[in-house]
Amino acid sequence: MFTLVVLAAVGFLAFLFQRSYFFQDVQHVLIRWKIKKRILTFMQKNYTIADQFADTVKAHPHKPYLRYKDETFTYLDADELSNRAARVLQQSGRVKGGDTVALFLGNEPQFLWLFLGLLKLGCPAALLNCNIRAKSFLHCFKCSGAKTLVAAEELQDAVEEVLPSLLEQQVTVFILADRCRIADVKSFKDKMSKASSEPLPKDLRSHVTMRSAAGYIYTSGTTGLPKAAMVTHTKMWMYSFMQYMTGVKSNDVIYTTLPLYHTAGIIGAFGAIERGITVVLRTKFSSSQFWDDCRKYNVTVIQYIGEIMRYLCNTPKKPNDKVHKVRLAIGNGMRPDVWRDFISTFGNVEIREFYGATEGNISTVNYSGKMGAVGRDTFMHRLLFKYAVIKYDVDEDKPVRDSSGFCVEASRGEPGLLVSEITMKTPFMGYAGDVQQTEKKRLHNVFRTGDMYFNTGDLLRVDEDNFIYFQDRVGDTFRWKGENVATTEVADVITMMECIKEANVYGVEVPGQEGRVGMAAISLSDGKHFDSTGVFKHVKKFLPTYARPRFMRIQSTLDVTGTFKHMKTKLVQDGFNPNQITAPLYLMDEEVKDYIPLTQDLFDSVMSGKIKI
Ligand SMILES: *[C@@H]1O[C@H](CO)[C@@H](O)[C@H](O)[C@H]1NC(C)=O
Ligand SMILES: *[C@@H]1O[C@H](CO)[C@@H](O)[C@H](O)[C@H]1NC(C)=O
Ligand SMILES: *[C@@H]1O[C@H](CO)[C@@H](O)[C@H](O)[C@H]1NC(C)=O
Repeated sequence: MFTLVVLAAVGFLAFLFQRSYFFQDVQHVLIRWKIKKRILTFMQKNYTIADQFADTVKAHPHKPYLRYKDETFTYLDADELSNRAARVLQQSGRVKGGDTVALFLGNEPQFLWLFLGLLKLGCPAALLNCNIRAKSFLHCFKCSGAKTLVAAEELQDAVEEVLPSLLEQQVTVFILADRCRIADVKSFKDKMSKASSEPLPKDLRSHVTMRSAAGYIYTSGTTGLPKAAMVTHTKMWMYSFMQYMTGVKSNDVIYTTLPLYHTAGIIGAFGAIERGITVVLRTKFSSSQFWDDCRKYNVTVIQYIGEIMRYLCNTPKKPNDKVHKVRLAIGNGMRPDVWRDFISTFGNVEIREFYGATEGNISTVNYSGKMGAVGRDTFMHRLLFKYAVIKYDVDEDKPVRDSSGFCVEASRGEPGLLVSEITMKTPFMGYAGDVQQTEKKRLHNVFRTGDMYFNTGDLLRVDEDNFIYFQDRVGDTFRWKGENVATTEVADVITMMECIKEANVYGVEVPGQEGRVGMAAISLSDGKHFDSTGVFKHVKKFLPTYARPRFMRIQSTLDVTGTFKHMKTKLVQDGFNPNQITAPLYLMDEEVKDYIPLTQDLFDSVMSGKIKI
């Protein structure tokens, strides 16, 4: 109650300053406040998603929970299938309450039955990215601490590749098949069809508290090996409430093509349980099938990441583009130019952009309708959540500190690092089996001696009107001529050119120069050639000198991670050496006002400093 009074008082003050957004701000803070209260109640009662699931099944057993291809699974079906999956694991004798089980499969119903089954058993699920292989696979598996692995049938080859190491570690390996082709692994499906679908006793998970792990999610680093972020039961609730926060209603049908092994998948598929809604799942995003699916399943809410929206806008226009029931899109990473395109092509879909780090303790939602903004920075918000945007030195890759060693808040309009205070109530659980990485995400003595903040690794900017804009990942900026270059911004400008389909922008080192100079790996639109003069003119017109890519390399395709993030590390290492790169290379030439082919001679001149970059 006290909080409410304070909020009202502060709200009134805010009203004087920020009239136009006052009601939205209050409404949003109230929603957050309600969620916070509900989560606190759940914490007192130890009420997990598994308990909610049981209640939802009781409330609407015959409502469809999942649609996948031509199959429909009701909440009751899901309940029974997850009971069976849990029993197979239980009966293997290898899985007891609290043991982690690693899941290695893509988007398919079985993923949900296994995860739900594990929640019922009180066992955390390590959600392995199904694209990882070999060394990376072993690394991820190992840091979860799991002794049991369940893998999709079509990933059998990938499992066999590392099987000797797994067996050496005495790991029990299940393949989701009726029969297995090798003796060292166990089949799962045949056992599941024989297992009982009767409810599992609730006391199986009596050891679970809201602070125990419900699972591990691997953050898809574009550099280095993935890290396992622990997802507590509280955190599961926070993900689940993203749907509520973004305005999803209980009669909605949500369409997700995003990987279930990432936060986005959890927000979609597990968030559905709280509202008891229907999830339409697809193995993989397909731009040509997207709207047909939406029509077929009467989808009303879609989940996106920026790249998906861009791909959708880039597919050839069709007369029925506006024929669908989608009313809301929730997700993150949409750029303003894509947004405009999207609305004009697919009609008036409400877009709710949110921001949140998988492992962090902070999130923002664009509830105000300001294009490009991911949220609002208000007094009220700050009362509920302690966070700050601090000055960041991109070159040194660390926060700027003043003479007494404390961090400094960024000025309005200036991109800074978003940090949120770590306290008992807002914990950062860290990465499983990786003390060093965990420590790297903790910032100490930020504003006071002894305080501790979570480093989101994201650069945000707050404008004069308190709108928050996502700027870049810390790793996605480079410094050139004393300026920060945000790679996605440059890419957005370049891809406005018709001949360029996609661009991945990064910085490369040049001898004798501070920082990194811009380079872009691009792929060309179908049937187009590289219009070098046109691109030169365009870049010159739209980008400041320091942000213009001096080098371009033309690829047939651009490599992306499991969540469609462009891979940069290898490209950065390659640099612009024509000896090492077979793809066509271009150099920006100010004199002839063109991008010209980068020959060995030109390369040598750049390296020796004869050509000034
Ligand atoms: C979609 O809606 C139409 C009309 O309301 C209905 O006839 C159809 O059965 C629905 N399809 C699904 C998959 O719910
Ligand atoms: C931080 O975590 C706590 C508990 O884990 C939760 O109650 C709170 O809402 C979170 N804050 C944000 C901003 O996500
Ligand atoms: C923010 O929300 C409004 C209203 O839904 C929407 O028009 C706008 O596009 C959103 N901005 C972004 C970046 O998603």
